[in-house]
Amino acid sequence: MLFLALVGLACTVSAQTANKIVLTNDDGWAVAQIRAQNDALTTAGYNVVLSCPAINESGTGSSTATPTTLKTPCEFNTCPTGSPATGSNATDPRLNYVNAFPVDAARFGIQTLAPEFFSGSKPDFVVSGPNIGNNLGSTVLISGTVGAASEAALEGIPSAAFSAATGGQVSYTTLTTSPTATDSKAAIIYSALTVSFIDVLLASSAPILPSGISLNVNYPSTTSCTSASAFKFVLTRINADSGATDVETCGTTHLPTESSVIAKAGCFATVSVFNANTKADVNAATQAIVLAKLASILTCSN
Ligand SMILES: *[C@@H]1O[C@H](CO)[C@@H](O)[C@H](O)[C@H]1NC(C)=O
Ligand SMILES: *[C@@H]1O[C@H](CO)[C@@H](O)[C@H](O)[C@H]1NC(C)=O
Repeated sequence: MLFLALVGLACTVSAQTANKIVLTNDDGWAVAQIRAQNDALTTAGYNVVLSCPAINESGTGSSTATPTTLKTPCEFNTCPTGSPATGSNATDPRLNYVNAFPVDAARFGIQTLAPEFFSGSKPDFVVSGPNIGNNLGSTVLISGTVGAASEAALEGIPSAAFSAATGGQVSYTTLTTSPTATDSKAAIIYSALTVSFIDVLLASSAPILPSGISLNVNYPSTTSCTSASAFKFVLTRINADSGATDVETCGTTHLPTESSVIAKAGCFATVSVFNANTKADVNAATQAIVLAKLASILTCSN
C-alpha cells in the first residue's frame, strides 16, 4: 500500500515537474499556427507563456538585437506603430510580442517572462513553432525557428523546433472566422501532433535532453494526413553523410535524411538531433539518448 502510494506520488510529481513551457516562433505572435499551439498546449495542461516576434521574422536564423519601439504596426495590425519594444495582449498577459528577432523573443521568454509566470523558476522546455513551411537540411542554418530553439538550448533550457508543410502566414482570427479553411485545419492538426510529441519527451527521465542539444522536427503535408494520429515519427539526420556512423535503428547505422523521409508517402514526421552551437548532426551516442526517450512513438520509414 505504502509502496503504491509512493509510486503514485512520484508519478504525480514528475508529471507536474516538466510542464512549464515558453512558446516561440519566427512567423510572429499573431499567426494562427502559434495561437493554435498555445491553445492546444494549455488545454493539455501545460503552463504556457507565449513570447514571439512582433512581426514576421522568418529566415533570420540566429540574428539578435535589442528590442526596439515599433516603427510599423505589429503583424495583422495587432499593435499600433509606436508600441513599446515588448508588450502583451491587453486581456491575456501570457501572450507577448518582442520587437526583435526570434532569438530575442526566446531569450525574453526565458529570462523575463518565465520567472514572472512560473513563480521565479525557469521554463522546463521551449517549443519553437510549428513554423510555416518545413526547415530541412541546410535550411536549418537560416531558420529563425531553429535559431530560437538553439538559443534556448544554449541557455540551458531543453527545446525543439517544429516546422510544418501545410499552411500560410494568416492571422489567428482565421481559426474562428474560417475554422474549415486549410490553414486552420492544418494548424489544429499540427498543434495536436506537437502536444503528443511533447507529452512523450517531457515524461522521459531528466534531463529532458542532453545539454546543448536540440531537436529539429518536421511535419509533412496534411493533404493525405488529416488527423494528428495519422502521423508517425522517424529518427533522421539533418545532413547526408555516408561516412558517419549513426545510432543503430531500423536495421542500419545510417539514419535517413529528414528531406528524404518527408518526401515519402506515409505521413512520416521527422526528428533530427542537432548541436545548438553548430546546427549540425550529433554523434551516435547522443542520437541514442533521444532514440530511447522517443522509442514509444518512433517508427521506421524503410
Ligand atoms: C515573411 O518573411 C519571409 C522571409 O523574408 C518571406 O519569404 C515571407 O513572404 C514573409 N511573409 C509575409 C506574409 O510577408
Ligand atoms: C487578446 O486576447 C483576447 C482575449 O483572449 C482576444 O479576444 C484578442 O483577439 C487578443 N488579441 C491579440 C492581438 O492577441
